[in-house]
Amino acid sequence: MKVPLLDLTAQYATIKNDILAAVSEVLESQRCIGGPKVAELEKKIAAISDCKFAVGTSSGTDAILNSLMSLDIGAGDEVITTPFTFFATVGCIVRIGAKPVFVDIDPRTYNINPDLIEQVVTEKTKAIMPVHLFGQMADMDPIMEVANKYNLAVIEDAAQSITSTYKGRKAGSIGTVGCFSFFPSKNLGGVGDGGMVVTNDEQLYNRLTIMRNHGAHPKYYHKFVGGNFRLDPIQAAALLVKLPHLDAWSEARRRNAAFYDEKFASSTIMTPYISPECVSIYNQYVIRVSKRDQLIAYLKEKNIGCEIYYPVPMHLQDCFRYLGYKEGDFPQAEKAAKEVLAIPIYPELTDEMKDYVAETIVSFLD
Ligand SMILES: Cc1ncc(COP(=O)(O)O)c(C=O)c1O
Repeated sequence: MKVPLLDLTAQYATIKNDILAAVSEVLESQRCIGGPKVAELEKKIAAISDCKFAVGTSSGTDAILNSLMSLDIGAGDEVITTPFTFFATVGCIVRIGAKPVFVDIDPRTYNINPDLIEQVVTEKTKAIMPVHLFGQMADMDPIMEVANKYNLAVIEDAAQSITSTYKGRKAGSIGTVGCFSFFPSKNLGGVGDGGMVVTNDEQLYNRLTIMRNHGAHPKYYHKFVGGNFRLDPIQAAALLVKLPHLDAWSEARRRNAAFYDEKFASSTIMTPYISPECVSIYNQYVIRVSKRDQLIAYLKEKNIGCEIYYPVPMHLQDCFRYLGYKEGDFPQAEKAAKEVLAIPIYPELTDEMKDYVAETIVSFLD
């Protein structure tokens, strides 16, 4: 048997005709920039995120970049974030000239440890950027407490966690802004790159809208230096087809997770910890094992896909060496990077496939 980490062709087979019709509609209209599909998707994503406003962007990366730029964060400013994330979180902070300031993670959830944030706040701190990793939201209440105390913006990097909840509140709706990614491997993935920013702040919404179009308002009159951060209407059309399936897909991932949890319960594998305050959308199912690298080789032999998210924490990346961090600075993030492994969790996994994955992993450990 062969089980890839993710099989997008299995999902596509179930919605192919609808996708082709929606994409064709955009092509026939030749509204190839902006237009009604983008506006409709923005309205619907705002609604499912319990937010008033949404601004489509060209990627999740550009959602973060636009947020930082629209919040007027730049040279000399500091943004507190986690070292255990995808590169884009930190890359965006650096690209706008600001300095990322890291704090370690909670080893159970892999999300930023809120207890460590206040001690790194300085007069240069402008924002906190929690990342809702693998589908589970960060512990937002204490993060918001620090943010409110020091008047800091909160940018939720919710790229992996659309519709996920914390104490019943949706990802993206608690901070100043929330950023989503529609990268194809996300629970709601496009047929290419795409992203969105959600917010309840009307003034910020207006700024985000202007900024995504080179800061022009009106056309050819530039108040700010923005960029081309626009969401492609072909992506919006495909995403509108997929959106009604999102909850069922996330539910199927939760069922798959529950299956693995049970299978691994009596083993030494550390299964994902989901806080009782959160509902995860399981963008990834990440286990921890001490013999991780041997397990990867074994899974490869058995035709089972897996991936390390993420092998090198951000403070140890070559390009961020100038920040002056060293090995040992964030022991929980460093330990996680050595032990984590994502295994197949996608909704279309069959019972036989799940069983094969679980049995293979358990047999490796025996
Ligand atoms: C945590 C996180 N932040 C940001 C991004 C960037 O999103 P995109 O790939 O759409 O630019 C991603 C996704 O790849 C991500 O997982």
